[in-house]
Amino acid sequence: MSKILILNGPNLNLLGRREPDVYGSATLADLKSALTNKFPTTEFEFFQTNSEDEAIAKLHEAFEKKLDVVLNPAAFTHYSYALRDACAVLTTSKLRLIEVHISNPHTREEFRHNSVISGVATGVIAGFGLSSYELAVSWLLAN
Ligand code: DQA
Repeated sequence: MSKILILNGPNLNLLGRREPDVYGSATLADLKSALTNKFPTTEFEFFQTNSEDEAIAKLHEAFEKKLDVVLNPAAFTHYSYALRDACAVLTTSKLRLIEVHISNPHTREEFRHNSVISGVATGVIAGFGLSSYELAVSWLLAN
């Protein structure tokens, strides 16, 4: 079974301490152990970056390695056409890319209501806390 890339965008390195009322108290390390415990036979690569450049490079790497991706683009969701284009490289090549969000951006500020990524994602899961990632992985493994 092939590997799944779990890619997290800017400010998610501070998960657990960043706006805990919105994002909860669990950390990225907690996400890693939750996914590896829940899916013990699945190989994951975990990567977080605050840089658009590095996020795009990681998506190019996933394209070359033919990996499916669970992506939380964080604030890049709302404006990064460059990240969108990198996502489209994967999904137009039949690789699956699930956009996930911890919060439900549609219940929040107006600028969060638009995602420039969703139009090229395989699907979108938002608002289920860290379970958003588990739901995305479950779907990838079942399909
Ligand atoms: C987020 C939602 C985005 O609007 C925000 O910029 C984030 C996190 C989420 O997981 O809920 O950084 O992607």
